[in-house]
Amino acid sequence: MNEINQEKPRLLDVGAGFGELFIDRAKAEPNKNFIVFEPLGFPDQELPENLTWIKGRLTDQESLPFQDGSIDGVILNFSLSTIYADYSGSDQEFGEYLQKILTGVLRVLKDGGEMVIREERGFCLNILEPGLNGLGVDFVITPAKEQDLSLTGQEMLADYYFDPEKNHDSLPLQVVISKTGFAGSANPQKSQ
Ligand SMILES: C[S@@+](CC[C@H](N)C(=O)[O-])C[C@H]1O[C@@H](n2cnc3c(N)ncnc32)[C@H](O)[C@@H]1O
Repeated sequence: MNEINQEKPRLLDVGAGFGELFIDRAKAEPNKNFIVFEPLGFPDQELPENLTWIKGRLTDQESLPFQDGSIDGVILNFSLSTIYADYSGSDQEFGEYLQKILTGVLRVLKDGGEMVIREERGFCLNILEPGLNGLGVDFVITPAKEQDLSLTGQEMLADYYFDPEKNHDSLPLQVVISKTGFAGSANPQKSQ
């Protein structure tokens, strides 16, 4: 288990890229712990003291090296579509895989905590939403707010504004999943 000060709120960014989102927030909010979980190595800059960088990849329910219910909030900012792009199975198989890895994220989230996922509209509605319906969690989908977007999200938004008809699917959406009421098992497919 990673030893991180348990007294401050702990926020986790899964698939953070170069970590810009959390590096900036960690500097602005020294009273919180920021944790990056990302397959890539450290960025080429000094990290704030309240930011922990863990090199790792989400592959199953146990990938995240944290105790159950020990994280206050999680963000997956355009990371699930990258995992989808790397996945070799069918969309239906990916739906089951998605439920497995998100069950692992929900495991580490405390009760009442929130998981925020931002992705392109097409991915959210065609891939993510059916997977979440199968997982049995409470969630809300809204347009992503421009001020909350990473560089990746801003590029998608710019693409949408460039040609809204043609690129309708690239409008970023935000999915907020509340852990409240989550009664999922470690293997949601078999629990039904
Ligand atoms: C499109 S980038 C988004 C980066 C950043 N979150 C942002 O908003 O700019 C997707 C990120 O997901 C990471 N990634 C890919 N597969 C992953 C996995 N299985 N577990 C965690 N992160 C993964 C990639 O290394 C990459 O940094």
